[in-house]
Amino acid sequence: MTADVLVVGSANADLVVATERRPAGGETVLAGDTRTLPGGKGANTAVAAARLGADVALLGALGDDGHGRLLLDSLRSAGVRTDLVRIVDRPTGVAYITVTPDGENAILVSPGANYALRPADVDGALSGAKVLVASLEVPLVTVEHALTAAAEAGVRTVLNLSPVAKVATGVLAALDVLVVNEHEAAWLLGTESAEPARLLELGPRSAVVTRGARGVVVVTRDGVTEVPSPQVEVVDTTGAGDAFTGALAVALARDASLADAARGAVRVAAFSVTRHGAQPSYPHSSELQ
Ligand code: RIB
Ligand code: NA
Repeated sequence: MTADVLVVGSANADLVVATERRPAGGETVLAGDTRTLPGGKGANTAVAAARLGADVALLGALGDDGHGRLLLDSLRSAGVRTDLVRIVDRPTGVAYITVTPDGENAILVSPGANYALRPADVDGALSGAKVLVASLEVPLVTVEHALTAAAEAGVRTVLNLSPVAKVATGVLAALDVLVVNEHEAAWLLGTESAEPARLLELGPRSAVVTRGARGVVVVTRDGVTEVPSPQVEVVDTTGAGDAFTGALAVALARDASLADAARGAVRVAAFSVTRHGAQPSYPHSSELQ
């Protein structure tokens, strides 16, 4: 028996450093102090969802190390169930994040333990879930298996296809909600710009394209809805997409329409960019007034 929202995805220690500029090949640049913060797309999504009061479990893999303990701490204090998190014989995933004064971040991910998450780990984890949310940074075969098994079990499925990858056609055809940013949408469609409505040609029942400060576009078979974002002072956008996806899944588990779910989720994402880090920046429902 799992939670209402089951998240399949990565957990990383985010090593975050502010720098005036990024080094070129062969160059050394001195930067600020390194902060080690809990991140990873799957763990971020799970924490965002749990802070909103939902019953959430993460299916993931960590190493037996300090980074793994940092992640377990963050997950547990947010109320995420961690009995489906396996401790494996590889280092916990690490994301090296450089942030420049324009607020832009560049991320290099070393997946480590996340790549030990196997399709077989999904079996037995799905029963009782209302919504399955998956993202990449874990093996594609595992994500494809999870989405297929969920669809067969009548569990609603949300795929945050980040980092973008080529997912099997049959898997996309069984998907309820595809969440991508504009770059990912263009990459999937092989076009210059995002063209949200065309995402349904790839098979999913609905899609959401996230567009940062411009909010999101929701596409269903009934049409296209633009959902604006509240305008906020941006401090750190890392993990804003994960916050959006987590909040979206919570609302879907509570039977909201996709457009209504997206309206609430853009507020959660906007809140998250006003504070540093990914997981540490996510709001509790009481902070969203
Ligand atoms: O989406 C943001 C996340 O991407 C960061 O927390 C980092 O871990 C990378 O996985
Ligand atoms: Na943030």
